[in-house]
Amino acid sequence: MAKKKRILTGDRPTGPLHLGHYVGSLANRVKLQHDYETFILIADVQALTDHFEHPEILRQNIREVVKDYLSVGIDPEKSTIVVQSMIPEIAELAVYYLNLVTVARLQRNPTVKDEMQQKGFEANLPAGFLVYPVHQAADITIFQANLVPVGKDQLPMIEQTKEIVRRFNALYKEVITEPEGLVGDVARLPGTDGQGKMSKSIGNAIYLADDAETVKKKVMQMYTDPTRLRATDPGHVEGNPVFSYHDAFNPNKEEVAELKDRYRKGKVGDVEVKQRLHEALNAFLEPIREKRATLTQDEKRIDEILIEGTHRALSVAQHTLSEVRSAMQIEYPFRRT
Ligand code: TRP
Repeated sequence: MAKKKRILTGDRPTGPLHLGHYVGSLANRVKLQHDYETFILIADVQALTDHFEHPEILRQNIREVVKDYLSVGIDPEKSTIVVQSMIPEIAELAVYYLNLVTVARLQRNPTVKDEMQQKGFEANLPAGFLVYPVHQAADITIFQANLVPVGKDQLPMIEQTKEIVRRFNALYKEVITEPEGLVGDVARLPGTDGQGKMSKSIGNAIYLADDAETVKKKVMQMYTDPTRLRATDPGHVEGNPVFSYHDAFNPNKEEVAELKDRYRKGKVGDVEVKQRLHEALNAFLEPIREKRATLTQDEKRIDEILIEGTHRALSVAQHTLSEVRSAMQIEYPFRRT
């Protein structure tokens, strides 16, 4: 049997995961874990690049993120869940990669640029933050990943990774696999405020762990079509986040088509469209919440999953790193074992 191809992807444990994570990446991971050898990284080291003053936040969220994974259907027998800081090989690889990237190239990374602005880092940029894409290249390649399921905002990271891989392979030896990114069916789910992507830091997210009442409240407060003042005005469906969510989460396509039609004609109010939406969202989230509730009763199991995962990951990481060292001619005979 041919060896399975590998997936590596990950999340920063800065808070609970939301619907944007689901459509961008989690759904693909759940689907592909049967066909790929999957590694999922809880990127606490990367999260420190903008949370170094609050490591306790990451500590609190690691187990929550694991519960998010398991509750949406990631199977720890099929997917290896790994805590990044427990694999120091990644940091070593990143140091070697840093030589292969220019500061100017890092400053051009559009995701880094956006984040710098968002976090107010422009005047006082921590060096660790600027180079996190290089670390991310190490995350991906230490596992020799072929495929990286991510949200659309992460594609610049994959692009940067490819450049580093090509540079490394050309300069030293062909030992690193060049990965491809894979974006989910809904590339970018807007926030409930209709402004940009759903994001923890902006406060416009619906979380996988939100209860039914919270989801209802968030949906009823959602931004819709700003040009429409009365329910009898013809409304816009395109760019209206309420309809983007209907498209992504309401399995009743007929209902969605009918609501859109009536909305365009000014024959349905925002309230009804939103009511249908929170019903659809809650139907989608209910089994996820139930699964989560059972996981919460067994915190020890979560720790076991992380210990097992990290063990499996360590041996892969050590293997890649030893190939890297040989390729770079720094595999010395007097190296400590
Ligand atoms: N940067 C990703 C995010 O913010 C998280 C991440 C860290 C990641 N390492 C990764 C994603 C490796 C894919 C591959 O969501």
